[in-house]
Amino acid sequence: MRNILDNKRPTWTSKYAFIITAIGSAVGLGNIWRFPYVMGQNGGAIFLAVYILLISTICFIPLMNELYIGKITKKECVGAYESINKNFKFLGALNPVTGILIASFYFIVGGWIINYIYKSIIASPIANYDDYFSTFIQMPVYPCILTLGFLFICIFLTARGIKNGIEAANKVLMPLLAVILIFLVIISVNLPNASAGLAYMFEPDFSKLNSHMILAALGQAFFTLSIGMGALLTYGSYIKEDKNLVKSVYTIILSDTAFAILAGIMIFPAVFSFNMEPNSGAGLVFVTLPKIFSQIPCGNVISCAFFVLLFCAAVTSGISILEGPCATMIERFKISRIKACAILFGIITVIAIPATLSFGVLDGIKIFDKTIFDFLDFITSNLMLPLNALFLCLISGWYLKIKGNHIIKNKILAKSFDIGLRYVVPAALICLVVMGLR
Ligand code: TRP
Repeated sequence: MRNILDNKRPTWTSKYAFIITAIGSAVGLGNIWRFPYVMGQNGGAIFLAVYILLISTICFIPLMNELYIGKITKKECVGAYESINKNFKFLGALNPVTGILIASFYFIVGGWIINYIYKSIIASPIANYDDYFSTFIQMPVYPCILTLGFLFICIFLTARGIKNGIEAANKVLMPLLAVILIFLVIISVNLPNASAGLAYMFEPDFSKLNSHMILAALGQAFFTLSIGMGALLTYGSYIKEDKNLVKSVYTIILSDTAFAILAGIMIFPAVFSFNMEPNSGAGLVFVTLPKIFSQIPCGNVISCAFFVLLFCAAVTSGISILEGPCATMIERFKISRIKACAILFGIITVIAIPATLSFGVLDGIKIFDKTIFDFLDFITSNLMLPLNALFLCLISGWYLKIKGNHIIKNKILAKSFDIGLRYVVPAALICLVVMGLR
């Protein structure tokens, strides 16, 4: 018999629990894997300066907007949009669909992390790091098992519910993440020639400023704050009471930025100290860093700490990616959380396995000239996330006509919110979509 309590919406047990889980959602592979390499490809310090400017101004608005809509409707995505206007239901449904698609490639990287933790523990020597990484991701079976393993861990925690699963995991993993990160930063800045890496991060070269880089910073900022798939809307719907949502939003932004900057301070001094390239792209964490770890004393312990760090970050974000679709299934189809998680596990598996194999046996299958993995990344990051965020801003600004002074006490901030919500953020999001399509 189904537990009657299943029908009652859960809420966060405290404001701290809400903030730490929202930070857990924000701080993920986006901060530790993606941020350093995107920064490395876009000129270092100048990218950082633009990024900080954008994340503390423009990004505040859609982040606040998602949490606020969740908080006032107290529903999962589809229900929230439907309660605004029945015709918006389908726009709402795009959110959990985006979540399922993101999960299908995010969790593959989660699987790679498990392999690197294992490799560090057994301290097996690797002859050629570039070859090792490309051979590993092309294997037919092993990476699939790892993807499913990582998915299972996140599904398991989500299935345990808000208090015993999501909150509990974040309360343990986030402090652990902070401690490991600080430990690694201390080691990195004490390496010989670390100052070159710090200069790369903090001494801007204005000649590198261009529109492509600004949009890359904006895209990165939206992704890292988890904007655009209803994860935050769902988290916002579990808020019981928060008299100062502005402060909570800034706490989330500040913490997320601090984690990203610390990740940079951990990675770049090491990269420069060993004369490696800062702009090696996605392989920075899986090829360049392991090469460095192999050359320092106690390298495998440090390597293990680093990949555990990445694992904690990926799990807390992975949970937030799952919670949106999970809440939608629970509340729309009136099924239990366990059942919803089991179904979600099945759906994500069906998409994630071909995506995992798209580095190897299925690399011949192309959708719009992209492998399955690249295609999933492309349609979610470049199209669906900015479009979902755009629709929600338009609905709030032009349909619900939400006013900044309903939410924000400070008059100047409230007025900027109004203008941002109606004009600036939609324009920025349209630029992102247009650039993403090119
Ligand atoms: N923000 C996470 C990261 O930086 C990823 C993430 C979690 C996400 N939930 C999301 C991205 C929702 C977009 C939408 O890794």
